Amino acid sequence: MLNGKVIVLGVTGGIAAYKAATLCSRLVQRGADVHVIMTESAKQFIPELTLQTLTKNPVYSDTFDERDPSVVSHIHLADLADLVLIAPATANVIGKMAHGLADDMLTTTLLATTAPVMISPAMNVHMYTHPAVMANMETLVSRGVSMIEPGEGLLACGYVGKGRMEEPDTIVDVVERFFRERAQLVALNEEIASSTTGILHGKKVVVTAGGTIERIDPVRYITNDSSGKMGFAIAKAAKQLGADVHLIAAHTDEAPPEGIRTEKVESAQDMYEAVLRVFDHSDIVVKAAAVADYRPAEVATSKIKKRGETMTLDLVKTTDILESLGRQKTSQFLIGFAAETDTVEQFAREKLKRKNCDLIVANDVTQEGAGFRTDTNSVHIFDAEGLVLQLPVMSKEEVAQRLLTLAADRLSGRSS
Ligand code: CTP
Repeated sequence: MLNGKVIVLGVTGGIAAYKAATLCSRLVQRGADVHVIMTESAKQFIPELTLQTLTKNPVYSDTFDERDPSVVSHIHLADLADLVLIAPATANVIGKMAHGLADDMLTTTLLATTAPVMISPAMNVHMYTHPAVMANMETLVSRGVSMIEPGEGLLACGYVGKGRMEEPDTIVDVVERFFRERAQLVALNEEIASSTTGILHGKKVVVTAGGTIERIDPVRYITNDSSGKMGFAIAKAAKQLGADVHLIAAHTDEAPPEGIRTEKVESAQDMYEAVLRVFDHSDIVVKAAAVADYRPAEVATSKIKKRGETMTLDLVKTTDILESLGRQKTSQFLIGFAAETDTVEQFAREKLKRKNCDLIVANDVTQEGAGFRTDTNSVHIFDAEGLVLQLPVMSKEEVAQRLLTLAADRLSGRSS
């Protein structure tokens, strides 16, 4: 399982550092390419030469001891790693990691790496249960660091309890399981990707994104909380599935995705005109944009001056783009969105009917992980018959992928 895997092994200064020799030996026996980084304190417990001999690789401990002028060692090791394993991990290194400190070769490498990190803590039982250490470990776990829980037993300090570093064989088993599960996940994702690749090939998909801006005067406008993330994710997913994508983007938090034809618009009226220009030739239209329902009746040509204690702004209704498309549609597959704060299903299904959509994607924006500016969403997708798909909190990219796979399925069902 470990053949060809680069493991950067951090050894820190606890008595369990002596076990690093067995750990190195076992990892190398299973085929891993092990690069050791030791802290200065670790060298008090085990000589560098032991680990260098076992791994057949140079051992690093000094950030400034640059042996190869063509690379910066800590960045090179950070990039090379498939996994960074710290065994033993002392309370000190755990604290430094939790707080982002980088004052030696190991901690600079840890900040520079994007590889997964696993730590095997080893310390006295009271140190292990100290609230500061516990809090630091929780911080690391919340950031995705894996903990190999220390075993209970007689500790080197004479105490019996939790704090003993897990045995090297068990650590190797955990590492192997990690790579096995990762390989399975990659295979599964590839399988999903290959089964959906090209399902929108030859289809023209129009996506609207962001929040429209309705001008009051040259320096003021009305808009909403839409970040554009959901619409952008749909445009990207449609492209990945082989579609010819036309993105119509109003005000958004970030730049539109690269490599997708994007038309920038400002108001609901601009968006309406832009969509109408491409509607006849489109196969799927996804209205993920948050379109203003009302706009100022008049747009002042110069900055409105402050006058009385109150001010009244006259608003008039904008065109409901989706409703208008619903009336005009011939073969186009129309997908609407309904962001609600209550009575989600009822409001969403009413909108689906009123706007003559094929699908409506409803979300409760008050729910955690499903708001306007989040990277995740949790949606219920309805058609005229009722609920079709319910997706728990997942990334907007995944929601987009599932939504378009469903739309493609429905489209191919129509043509067959
Ligand atoms: N929509 C549109 N044009 C508008 C308003 C909304 O095309 N002027 C579209 C949105 O892009 C979305 C769907 O209609 O796909 C539902 O938008 P939403 O704001 O939830 O619904 P409204 O019809 O505006 O109803 P309400 O604001 O009362 O909930």
